[in-house]
Amino acid sequence: MIFEQITTGGCQSYLVGCADTCAAVVIDPEKSQIDRYLALAMRHGLRIRYLLDTHTHADHFSASRQLARQLDAPLVMHRASPAPFVDMRLDDGEMLAVGRLRLQALHTPGHTMDSMCLIAEDRIFSGDTLLIGATGRSDLPSGDPEALYDSLFNHILHLDPALKVYPAHEYKGRSHSTIGQEITDNPRLQKRDRAEFVEMMRSLNLTMPTHITEALRTNMSGGKTVADLLSEAAERVPFMSLGELKSRVDAGDDELIILDIREREAYLTAHIPGARLLPRGQLELRVNQELPDPTRHILTCCELGLISTLAASTLRTMGYQRAVALDGGMKAWRAASYPVEHGPAQ
Ligand SMILES: [Fe+2]
Repeated sequence: MIFEQITTGGCQSYLVGCADTCAAVVIDPEKSQIDRYLALAMRHGLRIRYLLDTHTHADHFSASRQLARQLDAPLVMHRASPAPFVDMRLDDGEMLAVGRLRLQALHTPGHTMDSMCLIAEDRIFSGDTLLIGATGRSDLPSGDPEALYDSLFNHILHLDPALKVYPAHEYKGRSHSTIGQEITDNPRLQKRDRAEFVEMMRSLNLTMPTHITEALRTNMSGGKTVADLLSEAAERVPFMSLGELKSRVDAGDDELIILDIREREAYLTAHIPGARLLPRGQLELRVNQELPDPTRHILTCCELGLISTLAASTLRTMGYQRAVALDGGMKAWRAASYPVEHGPAQ
């Protein structure tokens, strides 16, 4: 087995390949690591044949759909997954063949109703059902502490104690443990009575994960995240640094049109000297009057340097082939004590 563990914050994903056939699967891929999975597969001479999510993630952005499309490979989840774009749905006891490797699916609801674990040779990919020294939480949508008890105590914990446990989350830098270690050391598994375990899970009072609504929306619909929109726009536009713009402003460069796309009030309070106001919400409608010459060099700026990227990308789509975005925003410009003008354009 060719094996790579990829850590993104606390999220763990895995590239698992068959050494005989060079076929591979990525388990729980995360959006920010897409290039890394592809690079690792290339480094090992692997071809990614499947993308697999152990469950519907509520706390990070799955790259499965994007990679599945890009690689023309099936996206695999449990049969209970609510996502309409899953290509292959596994049921309890079924196996995914990755070359000569076999990944056996165990349906382990509890963290979510579509949670599954996968056993491959000497290890189990335990998703968020069993973590190192913890379990997945059962208070998110479709979670169920009673089902989690059954999945753990009547299923996972009966497996070979030597089986290595590779979870979907680990926040303390540990790579894996074993079923045996978890049985003896995992504090949550010491509550072996069903009612006590359920009561403990119900009283954890965990805070909701950040981005939960965006993660569930995009992971279940296949829609784009805000970061997707920004990175797609950023792939299409050049940027200009704050320092470069400052030196152009100091030099009185009037070749460059600085387009402030914030709301009028923010613009009147303080803007870059010489900047013109064209709020983002009016950009497409007013662009013909405001910017009649599509060959001009246009720089978009906003408060944080994010929306300006979208605006520059929109301008490029509309034929302004020299539109660029400021690398940073007015917040950083003010923090650098660079000059500003107040009031309406002069
Ligand atoms: Fe999860």
